[in-house]
Amino acid sequence: MNSVLIKNGTIIHADSQSIADILIQGETITSIGENLVLPSSTRIIDATGKLIFPGIIDPHTHMGIPIKSGFSADNFASGSRSALHGGVTTILDFTVLERDQTLMESLELRKNLARESVCDVGLHINITRFDPDILKEIPVLIKAGFSSFKVFTTYKESHMMLDYEQIEVIARIIAAHNGVLMVHAEDDGVISAAMSPYLEELETAPRFHPLGRPAEAEVVAVRRLGGISARSGCTMYIVHLNTAAGLKIATLYPNLKLETCPHYLLLNDGVYDQEDGHMYVASPPLRKKADQEALWQGLIDGHIDTIGSDHCPFCLEDKARNIPFQEIPNGMGGVETLFPVLLAKFLDQGLDLCLLTRLTSKQPAEIFGISSRKGSINPQMDADLLIVDPHNVKTDWEGTLHTHLDWNAYSGLPAIFPEMVFRRGEIVALQDKGLRPTSGVILGSRSRNQE
Ligand code: URP
Ligand code: ZN
Ligand code: ZN
Repeated sequence: MNSVLIKNGTIIHADSQSIADILIQGETITSIGENLVLPSSTRIIDATGKLIFPGIIDPHTHMGIPIKSGFSADNFASGSRSALHGGVTTILDFTVLERDQTLMESLELRKNLARESVCDVGLHINITRFDPDILKEIPVLIKAGFSSFKVFTTYKESHMMLDYEQIEVIARIIAAHNGVLMVHAEDDGVISAAMSPYLEELETAPRFHPLGRPAEAEVVAVRRLGGISARSGCTMYIVHLNTAAGLKIATLYPNLKLETCPHYLLLNDGVYDQEDGHMYVASPPLRKKADQEALWQGLIDGHIDTIGSDHCPFCLEDKARNIPFQEIPNGMGGVETLFPVLLAKFLDQGLDLCLLTRLTSKQPAEIFGISSRKGSINPQMDADLLIVDPHNVKTDWEGTLHTHLDWNAYSGLPAIFPEMVFRRGEIVALQDKGLRPTSGVILGSRSRNQE
C-alpha cells in the first residue's frame, strides 16, 4: 500500500494549529504526531514552513447544468479538475429534475454524469415540482444516503419555484427523517414587483439587475423560511446569503444554517456600472459594500456556517453584451479560486485560519453528513489534504486556471494556490505539473443523527 509522510507542516485544524507529521496509508490518514513508525518505502515530503489544510468541501456547484441555450461552461470533468487545483477535493452538486421524472431518476442521471469527476462528489436532490409521489420518495432517498434537498422560492418562469406552503410540507417530511432542506431564498413576489418597471420601461442594462432583485426579496423569503424551520423543526440551509438585512433576520432562527459565497464577500454592485457589468449577472445579484462588511462580520461572529462557490460559469460569448439583463444566463465561476482568494484575504486581514477551516471543511462536512470521513485532519479520515506555502501570493494567476471559463471575476486579486493536493491519498494536483488523477467517488451522505 502506498504510504506518504508529510513532515513538519503546520496543520490548520478547526480549533487549533499544530506542527506535526501526518502519515497517509492508501486513501486514509493513519497517524499524526512525531517520530511515527513508518512502513518501509514511505515517501517523505518535507512541509517545513508550509500550512496543511483539510481538503476544501465546496457545498454548492452546478457542473454542466442545462439552461435555455446550452449548459454551464464546466462539465463534471473540467469543473472537478479545476476544483482540485484550487484545493477543493469534494464538491456537492445538484440533481436536475426534468418534467415527469422521479427524484430517483433525476439522481441516477446526474450520478452518471458525475462519474467523470476527478474530485469526490456528493449530490443534493433538487425538488422543483410538488406532487404526492415526490413526497413519498424523500424518505427513500434519505435512507439511500441522499439526505439534502433543495427548493427555490423564485424562478417561477423556469418552473422551478415552490410556494411556502409546499415548502413547509416538504420541510416536515425532511425533518422527520433527519435530512437537510436547502433553499434559494429570494421572494418571487418581491422580485416581480421590483422588476416590473424595468420590463415596462424597457430598461435593459445590467445595472438594473440588483434593483429588480432587491435585498427585500431575501429578507421576506428568509423570514418566511425561518418560520417554517421553527414550526417544522427542519434544519434549513440558506444558500448564497448576500445581504446584511437577510443575515440579521436569519440569525433569529436557530434551525437555519447559512452559506455565503466569495462573490458576495469580495465584489460589490459597483461592477454593474463597468463595461463588462453583464458578466457579473448572477442571482442573487452582487450587493453594496455595507452588505459585504456585514457578511464578513457574520463569518467572524460564527453566524455564517459555510462558503460555497455557487460555481455556475458562462463564457464571454454566452453572456453576450447588449442583451437585456433578464436574458443573460445567471451565474459566475469560482470553484478554483474559492480557497486561494479567501486564504490570501484571511492572511492579509490577520483573520484566524482555523475559522477558514471551519467554514470550508468542517462545517460543510457536518451539515451534509460526511464528517465521518471528510472535513478534518485526523486518523481514520480520508487523506484529503492541501500543502500551502503562505508566502506564495500571486496576482497574475488567471492564465494558469483549469476551468473552461474564458473570463474571471477575481482576476488580479491576490491568491495563494495550494502547491500539492491529496484526494484520498493520491496526489491529484501539483503546481505547474499536469497530472491525470483517477476518478472521484460519488458519496452517499449519512442523515444528521447518524453522524
Ligand atoms: O446565478 C446563479 N447563482 N445561478 C446558479 C443557480 C442558482 O440560483 O444558484
Ligand atoms: Zn440559487
Ligand atoms: Zn446555485
